[in-house]
Amino acid sequence: MDKILIHGGHPLSGSIKVSGSKNSSLPILAATLLTREPCIVHRVPDLSDTHYMLQILIHLGAQVERASGTVTVAAENVQSVAPYDVVRKMRASVCVLGPLLGRCKEATVSMPGGCVIGDRPIDLHLKGFEALGAAVRVEGGNIKVFAPKLTGAVINLRGKFGPTVLGTDNVMMAAVLAEGTTVIEGAAQEPEVVDLANFLTKMGAKIEGAGTRRMIIEGVRQLHGVEHDIIPDRIEAGTFLVAGAIAGKEVTIKRVNPEHVRAITDALARCGLPIDVKDDAISILPNGDASALELTTEPYPGFPTDMQAQMCALLSTTDGISVITENIFPQRYMHVAELKRMGAHVDLEGATAVIQGVDHLFGAPVMASDLRASAALVLAGLKADGITEVSRVYHIDRGYERLDEKLGELGAQIERVKEA
Ligand code: EPZ
Repeated sequence: MDKILIHGGHPLSGSIKVSGSKNSSLPILAATLLTREPCIVHRVPDLSDTHYMLQILIHLGAQVERASGTVTVAAENVQSVAPYDVVRKMRASVCVLGPLLGRCKEATVSMPGGCVIGDRPIDLHLKGFEALGAAVRVEGGNIKVFAPKLTGAVINLRGKFGPTVLGTDNVMMAAVLAEGTTVIEGAAQEPEVVDLANFLTKMGAKIEGAGTRRMIIEGVRQLHGVEHDIIPDRIEAGTFLVAGAIAGKEVTIKRVNPEHVRAITDALARCGLPIDVKDDAISILPNGDASALELTTEPYPGFPTDMQAQMCALLSTTDGISVITENIFPQRYMHVAELKRMGAHVDLEGATAVIQGVDHLFGAPVMASDLRASAALVLAGLKADGITEVSRVYHIDRGYERLDEKLGELGAQIERVKEA
């Protein structure tokens, strides 16, 4: 296993290009199962999560070719069973259920494991499938869905923590080949859901209301192959903006959609950090006197839970008392214990973190636990006095393309070493 060493205190400057979105790539790669014809997807980031998804598609019988960021998938003949040893590596594998149900009218997929950010139920996914006429059974750790035919229905996908992103994706991918009209109330509005809807529409699906809480899907008989560019990764963009906020002189993020990161740039501006937006580039120009902040994570277009850990790192070194409330995954605070090892003052009260900013963080050996918590520890290391050693960086490689190299290109003193 690799680890990343960061020598703190070196200012960042310059620009980086944002990669294609991980959370858009995964459902769109799954959606290629909905047609026998080849689909060509550009700007698929080179991550272990996208690698796992391609392995699953191959296991299901698709022909897959990858040439740098372009992936071609031809799912001429597919089988509908995705076993534990492929699914267990990535819980987002659950998003092959919808396309397999749509294409094959049946699917068997291993139950996704939980993960450190909290329980990851899929009850809303299954509720959507049942509303479309599927029988759902959970046996031997597998989810089995089966439908002689799929019939459009009115489905409310809102859960107690709000809309479900992959649940909306899954139900959408089954409904596009159902007979009749499906209405999804309480749909997720994330840009990645819209990117999937655009991909399906290009394939011949009939979808209205993508990006709103109410989607209307007119089922069609079949879908055809397409070519598509994945949208930029708004969470990678936000992570680099926070890197600039923590350790930057002037950092510019290129090939980003400013609308998709508005909640993030608004939060940074509320900290008093000057942000400059020009077309598809955003610059952050720290002036050294960022201020404390109250922040609540919400479904899009609110502040994204996937940026909560990174903001925790920034606010740990920002004067004053900040308060973060995590409404999506209330347990998503694995990064706090590690930040405290670096000298941060953070008190957890349920889903709320109260952060007393400190003048200095101190480099220390810390352990990555989940994708975004790991990124937060690297960001904290940029500012900390001394050397921070982040172990188990495979968590980072799941969702960030060359994070350490890109930070190095901005001037960070950062190196990846093999862990003995
Ligand atoms: C997606 O996960 C993202 N992953 C997550 O990003 C992101 O944190 C999350 O959406 C929220 O924005 C991908 O897109 C691959 P949800 P998803 O269903 O779809 C509850 C990252 O770091 N819920 O929107 O699995 C759930 O427990 C990852 O890139 C139910 O109760 O999340 C949570 O509290 C981490 N029942 C809330 O809804 C269900 O059936 C939102 O979850 C489904 C979800």
